[in-house]
Amino acid sequence: MKLSRRSLLRTVAIGGVGALSFPFFRTLNSAAASMPLPALSPITEFDLFAAPASFQLLPGTTTHGLGFNGQIAAPVIRGKQGQPLRIRFHNRLDEPTTIHWHGVRLPLAMDGVPDVTQAPILPGESFIYEFTPPDAGTFWYHPHVNSIEQLGRGLVGPLVIDEAEDPGFDQDLVLLLKNWNLQSNGEFGELSVKRYAARQGTPGQTFSVNGQSEPEYAVHAGAAVRLRLINADNTWPYELTLQGAPAQILSKDANPIVPERFEGYTLGAGMRLDLGLLVPNQPGQVLELKHKHKVLARLIVMPSTSAPRLTLPRLPENPIAEPDLNQAEKLFFSFEWDAISDEQGRALFWNLKGPKAQRPAYCTNANLLASLARNKSYIFTLRNNTQYPHPIHLHGHTFKVLESDKRPITPYYADTVLLEKHEQVSIAFVADNPGRWMFHCHVIEHMAMGLVGMIEVV
Ligand code: C2O
Ligand code: CU
Ligand code: CU
Repeated sequence: MKLSRRSLLRTVAIGGVGALSFPFFRTLNSAAASMPLPALSPITEFDLFAAPASFQLLPGTTTHGLGFNGQIAAPVIRGKQGQPLRIRFHNRLDEPTTIHWHGVRLPLAMDGVPDVTQAPILPGESFIYEFTPPDAGTFWYHPHVNSIEQLGRGLVGPLVIDEAEDPGFDQDLVLLLKNWNLQSNGEFGELSVKRYAARQGTPGQTFSVNGQSEPEYAVHAGAAVRLRLINADNTWPYELTLQGAPAQILSKDANPIVPERFEGYTLGAGMRLDLGLLVPNQPGQVLELKHKHKVLARLIVMPSTSAPRLTLPRLPENPIAEPDLNQAEKLFFSFEWDAISDEQGRALFWNLKGPKAQRPAYCTNANLLASLARNKSYIFTLRNNTQYPHPIHLHGHTFKVLESDKRPITPYYADTVLLEKHEQVSIAFVADNPGRWMFHCHVIEHMAMGLVGMIEVV
């Protein structure tokens, strides 16, 4: 067999994979640098395992949870915009699972929704996810099976897609936020309690950033730092501030905005926010990332010999199709509170109504909400008829958040939008990715109990 240069490189690089719990991460283009080659598209490969894991979240205790590659926090999967990314996923859990790449516009078959885009991956099985991310930015990954338990016990991880051209930050920090629902002995409490599930969702009381309580990170005086905040929690909307230095919001979800001063932001479950920070030239100073009054993480300013940066790098826009608002078809969706049961007698506290479906359904494919014509523009009006906030997420697409009936909005692109209680928000997008895509609240219990449906693009 004649090996192409690309498959030869791949063979060489893969040859060394051994230890199962060891995260393997490599870009297969380094050896190619010295020789002129026809356009070679390097593949970034990663082995990812989901397995039971023990870790310490409360001092002096052990938590028996679930981890990616045996780690809390999960490994950062890092790819590059426009370059193929291949993740060999191995299910070492004792139940089926899938992995969903939250926010990535990818082909349906890679979206990780059980029984819709793929068969569930059974214990002991592997599945290769391969896609070429068209957009750069901060994303995350998580299972889409038994989500209250699988995400709640630890299976959440960051996915960073680097810009095709390096924007030039001195430092890039990923901060994955999650709360843990623990008893005092470190073991999990009940992850879904009915009286909370019917309200804002069952909260975990132990805060963490990258799996640690109040971690400290060194930043260099005068440096231009990018902070990637990811809300990977099942429930909490974090009310974030950064104390000690002015920061700018650079992007929402993965999408750059015209930078604006960061004066505090509510980050609902599933949402991301990238901040840019020019670190004050004061070694020893401590900056605090907070949720309300709770410190989540500290940034410690270290001395530096480099000249202080004067401006923050700018992020390039992602290639999102601009919806045609004049031609767009308008569809109405409402998010309702409804204490009813399904045919099996399970409680469904929540209901997502769309043009096609008016009855609630459990977490699947059953609830086809709307059928969209490929490449046509749509405006979705999302009405929250409940007294709780809901971060609403659409798979496979990036939408433009247009307006709210409660607050001024400068339109921006996102994949998850937080509806405040009784708020109505309009979003618009081009239905340019064919398939059946999930549309759901990212408060996981709300999703599991009715705030879920499918949007079909044909
Ligand atoms: Cu984070 Cu169905 O998504
Ligand atoms: Cu998603
Ligand atoms: Cu909700």
